Amino acid sequence: GFFVNLDATALLLFIVVFILTADYIKNRRLTGFPPGPPALPIVGNIFTLDHKRTHETGRYGDVYSMRMGQRWVVVLNGFEAVTQALVTQGDSFSDRPSIPLYDDIFHGLGVILSNGHMWKQQRRFALSTLKYFGFGKKSLEPMILEEFTYVAKEISKPFNPHLIVNNTVANIICLLVFGHRFEYGDEQFKKMMKLFEQSIQIQVSVLAELYNAFPQLMRCLPGPHQKFKRINEELKDFVRTEVKDHKQKWDPSDLRDFIDYYLNEIQMVTEKSLLFLRIYIICTTFDEECLIMSVLDLFGAGSETTSTTLRWAFLFMVKYPEIQERVQAEIDSVIGQSRPPSVDDRADLPYTDAVIHEIQRMGNIVPLNLPHVTNRDVHLRGYTIPKGVTIIPNLTSVLFDKREWKTPFTFNPGHFLNEEGKFVKPAAFIPFSAGKRLCLGENLARMELFLFFTSFMQHFTFSMPPGVKPVLDYRFGITLSPVHYEICAKPRHE
Ligand code: HEM
Repeated sequence: GFFVNLDATALLLFIVVFILTADYIKNRRLTGFPPGPPALPIVGNIFTLDHKRTHETGRYGDVYSMRMGQRWVVVLNGFEAVTQALVTQGDSFSDRPSIPLYDDIFHGLGVILSNGHMWKQQRRFALSTLKYFGFGKKSLEPMILEEFTYVAKEISKPFNPHLIVNNTVANIICLLVFGHRFEYGDEQFKKMMKLFEQSIQIQVSVLAELYNAFPQLMRCLPGPHQKFKRINEELKDFVRTEVKDHKQKWDPSDLRDFIDYYLNEIQMVTEKSLLFLRIYIICTTFDEECLIMSVLDLFGAGSETTSTTLRWAFLFMVKYPEIQERVQAEIDSVIGQSRPPSVDDRADLPYTDAVIHEIQRMGNIVPLNLPHVTNRDVHLRGYTIPKGVTIIPNLTSVLFDKREWKTPFTFNPGHFLNEEGKFVKPAAFIPFSAGKRLCLGENLARMELFLFFTSFMQHFTFSMPPGVKPVLDYRFGITLSPVHYEICAKPRHE
């Protein structure tokens, strides 16, 4: 019995030593690879990446590496390293890595997660449609201003802006893609918003992180993926119903929204392919499954982001009432009370513009950016990074870069004003990232932020409920958002 036990122990020991040695050999940092913190066997640095401390990541230098499970990740810190990769060497850094949880459910369709031909076609299409609605003759400006009148009616004091602002901003995407808004109390709308919220909770859970680090293992377990799949199927069904409805009312001479445009594109491709023996069918990525994913992408990327920024805006205004007063004074003198703001007013409101930019900088809502991946072996700032390494172009490190901002950790609209009080935008202001993957909703987001923020400031003064102090602490979801808070909004003019 003793010898059998010994044999079993020796075998176990051998297996452990074998696995650790194999792990060490497979995962050691090769010469020229960026340095980084020591990694544990197997799991690597999976427990080290602390989103709340991204400000401090500079201690490892401008380019450093970490291992998430079996996957190498290189973090880029500071304005220079980030823009050198994303802009100067943009061709090598423009792809998205494979993320098992998303791959299993979305299959690389749409804009945000796709690569290559699919990404190019879908991105170009989404950009041109957004341009048409944002700034062409179907401008979203009047719709945004109208949406403000609805949200203004909802405000009672004190209130938690989370849900209300989420609905408001989601409605702008609804107008863009579906061609109509929802009443805030609409049951379907409430259900959709809840599904998005649940989907986000799963995406940021520890289980999702484990799933992505050890997909083979996790696929066999009743992990988060089944629930994630169910939620996303429900969301897709929601969009499917809208698409069906659009198809029934579709009229090529009157394209009303994103879905109409997309159906038009599918139609054109089909016609061409009939003419040219279906060659086009092979080259096109436009079909209904992809339409549904592109719509979900616009919601996923365009709702929570803008809404979170507005919630930061309210909080900064109550924290710095003197700044709020100055913004209101500027709006009063340039716009007055008798008409709503317009995007053309921006140039005459340099202080307000500076405050909005500073809210975005300090709010820092996409702190670690979206992940990129090297699509070839690259040399960056003296290091060699092989093809296939996940890249995190750390936006926190740029928006708080000590070399770029006078007072990086202080809310200071002066960062965006020159000596004469004119608006200036420093190059390191890149909350929408930079290069080929630059946020494709940037113009829409900027328009929404400007129109909503100036409208709120024109009509309300924000303050904390009596006896409550504003807390600038944040929680990490898909975006870095303020902890839930209640706020009072006092109408400025009855
Ligand atoms: C991508 C920020 C609003 C659509 C991104 C990225 C960032 C970002 C940092 C990643 C870029 C990269 O990978 O390098 C923001 C912020 C917003 C905002 C701070 C609001 C304040 C919007 C809106 C829309 C939108 C309103 C759409 C209507 C997208 C899409 C992508 C993206 C589709 C993926 C682009 C691609 O992979 O090619 N955004 N975004 N975003 N954003 Fe935004």
